[in-house]
Amino acid sequence: MARGIVLPAEFHLQRLEAVDSTNAEAKRRAAQGASDGTVIQAGAQTAGRGRQGRVWESPPGNLYCSLLLRPDCAPGMAVQAGFLTALAAGEAVARHLPPEVAVRCKWPNDLLVDGAKVAGILLETGIDKTGRVDWLVIGLGINIASHPPAASYPTTSLIAAGADRVSPDDLLAAYCASFAVWRHRWREFGFEPVRRAWLAKASGIGKGIRVRLENEELTGVFADLDPGGALILETAAGERRRISAGDVFPAAA
Ligand code: BTN
Repeated sequence: MARGIVLPAEFHLQRLEAVDSTNAEAKRRAAQGASDGTVIQAGAQTAGRGRQGRVWESPPGNLYCSLLLRPDCAPGMAVQAGFLTALAAGEAVARHLPPEVAVRCKWPNDLLVDGAKVAGILLETGIDKTGRVDWLVIGLGINIASHPPAASYPTTSLIAAGADRVSPDDLLAAYCASFAVWRHRWREFGFEPVRRAWLAKASGIGKGIRVRLENEELTGVFADLDPGGALILETAAGERRRISAGDVFPAAA
């Protein structure tokens, strides 16, 4: 274990000064047989990746990490890990912010601080010959010292939101500790407690939203999260649409 950071026993940390992408590195190590609980952390990334092929800007000063898990589950279940990651990252972030600052989960896998994106999560899976998950890599980027300019959504960092003196190491330790607790609950009781906790912190629930899909944009009310983590959108026509991938924006924006 690296000096100075204490992680729960189920995690073993590999720290790198810089790497192309901690997700890419975790996937390379998965291919070489690395075990469940491998954590890759880098001080900077030269080719950080976001969802849907987007770039994740990765200068020094922020947290870039990936957890490699071997959950031995069906691919549909691995998606649920994104929600417990958001809960764990949200708890870690909230510890460093003044209590009046709102930390919310944005579907599917983002974390908002006072309505602006502070963290993103990138899940990647490898499937074995039997169709089960061989490895699951959960990448997490948290903006601490800097954040990119807003593109389609406002962005922020912990420092900009009022945190002082928070290091990537502090955040990683707090995140892994919360993640271990949530993973235990998930294994013991299934997705329902995760789903309920996520809904209690969800941004936009019960409100008008736009959902940008690959080829269309839908509007309606964010009515619920289904038992597998899909967003339930209630349209003006009274239809309930089940959405499993997309980008969410407030209706008016
Ligand atoms: C998103 O919001 O689009 C997801 C961003 C995920 C970024 C993290 S940073 C650590 C890990 N390595 C990557 O290349 N991406 C994830």
